[in-house]
Amino acid sequence: SWTMKSFARETIDQIRETVGDKKVILGLSGGVDSSVAALLIHRAIGKNLTCIFVDNGLLRKDEATQLKHKLKSRLNINIRFVKAASKFVKALSKVTDPERKRKIIGKVFMDVFEAEAKKIKDADFLAQGTLYPDIIESQSAFGGPTSVIKSHHNVGGLPKKMKLKLVEPLKYLFKDEVRKLGKTLGLDDDLVWRQPFPGPGLAIRVIGEITKKRLDVLREVDAVLLEEIRAAGYYRKVWQSFAVLLPIKSVGIMGDGRTYENIVAIRAVTSKDAMTADWARLPHKLLGKISNRIINEVRGVNRVVYDISSKPPSTIEWE
Ligand code: XMP
Repeated sequence: SWTMKSFARETIDQIRETVGDKKVILGLSGGVDSSVAALLIHRAIGKNLTCIFVDNGLLRKDEATQLKHKLKSRLNINIRFVKAASKFVKALSKVTDPERKRKIIGKVFMDVFEAEAKKIKDADFLAQGTLYPDIIESQSAFGGPTSVIKSHHNVGGLPKKMKLKLVEPLKYLFKDEVRKLGKTLGLDDDLVWRQPFPGPGLAIRVIGEITKKRLDVLREVDAVLLEEIRAAGYYRKVWQSFAVLLPIKSVGIMGDGRTYENIVAIRAVTSKDAMTADWARLPHKLLGKISNRIINEVRGVNRVVYDISSKPPSTIEWE
């Protein structure tokens, strides 16, 4: 019978056979897909795998640090961390259009990634944690000019440009299968159950203009939100939960004074594959606690709203 263990064994053998004694580069995002791909390939070829993690300054709080502990220290995987936050933020300055944000992030990512990849001598392969739905979705997304809803950012153009051959060990799997596989391979529970996070990261959750300061505000809000979602046992129950920083201000009152500050929207959805999604019926008590903590603890925010739209016709992200 087909089990995750035998799938893992066969895939590891296959990778070894395909790659031989050549080197493989993998772009690590911090998510479950690329982490599981890294684990599989590491099992197959060990130190001949080099992962590249680009810190684009658009990540959640402590993301890079966690990855350092979980993959590099604990599993001994070869990872290069590239600090590129200011490059991304600079390139995004004054840009408000969501699709332009994605294009710029994709382009800067490619440049940074390519420059780092070039330092790895004798690499013949580029590995990606592409899943089955990713292939389906990008086929329809590029099927015609009218079917492009959001240009999902990935490293698709790289292998051709750098003359690398692709290794995609997860391309026949769905998300829940990748999680099972990760567990089988001994991946930390925190990573196995990581909610999906978009490639453009917080850039498409800071609506309108992006500045380091606005990213920092959103990062703090997001950290409080996730802490409460986790504490209430909802982190795994929902598909995604996150905060969005809006480009309008609202009036508030604090002590004796009037405030005029930012509004954040909280979004939590249930879903199977992100193609459709329903807004999560989080308990009012939890929502209240999240709102109180954010307004009290995060400077520059005086109002919290909850997004009660489903997909379709809304999308999961706001941009
Ligand atoms: P939407 O907003 O289209 O999102 O309902 C569906 C799923 O895709 C994620 N998403 C992205 N992922 N690059 C990504 O890698 C992107 O540009 C992007 N846009 C949306 C979103 O978080 C959700 O899981």
